[in-house]
Amino acid sequence: MSINIETQSLLIRQFEKDDWKHLHAYTSKESVMKFIPDGAYTREDAQKFIEENLGEEAEKFAVILKAENVLVGHMYFHKWFAPKTYEIGWVFNEAYQGKGYATQAAQALVDYGFDVLRLHRIIATCQPQNPPSWRVAQKIGMTKEGHFRKCILSGEDWWDEMFYAVLDEDRDDGET
Ligand SMILES: CC(C)(COP(=O)(O)OP(=O)(O)OC[C@H]1O[C@@H](n2cnc3c(N)ncnc32)[C@H](O)[C@@H]1OP(=O)(O)O)[C@@H](O)C(=O)NCCC(=O)NCCS
Repeated sequence: MSINIETQSLLIRQFEKDDWKHLHAYTSKESVMKFIPDGAYTREDAQKFIEENLGEEAEKFAVILKAENVLVGHMYFHKWFAPKTYEIGWVFNEAYQGKGYATQAAQALVDYGFDVLRLHRIIATCQPQNPPSWRVAQKIGMTKEGHFRKCILSGEDWWDEMFYAVLDEDRDDGET
């Protein structure tokens, strides 16, 4: 899928080859990647990630802060198992967290998903120990639909997982 969406502060676009350094700057940090199953990225991991998301098969998209023309994070946005259903996710550089950017990017993709792709449902998953993540889900109008106990094995630890979703019809103006 090809995406190019502008919001008040951000541009959400396809990755470009040269983006790997900015991506690596934050994905190399354990603190940022603590709840991402891949764990912290090496330079090679960051380059491979970009390679895998350059073309029409891209499932992850770069988020650029327009005021600084810098890559500040990335979004997951891709088909999920059910028809007309996508999964969304968010990872941002710590230096740019807490400023509402993840929420702004997520809202733009949700609107794009419902208005342009004509999706029925968008889901997100996160860990209970990661309040900034489930807060973003809440702020974009998602409802908590489930809490799965100890369903993900991370190293030797079992993680719980919370499941959030928003339907097109949940939106104020939602019409299918
Ligand atoms: C999750 C993440 C993308 C959020 O990015 P962000 O740009 O800081 O998000 P926003 O600023 O839009 O919103 C964050 C919200 O979490 C809230 N928050 C932050 N820390 C919190 C805490 N410890 N307890 C409760 N709420 C918290 C913020 O106050 C804000 O909510 P508010 O607007 O109601 O005040 C970012 O923290 C991140 O990249 N984390 C590492 C990667 C990750 O774990 N991704 C999710 C995997 S499921």
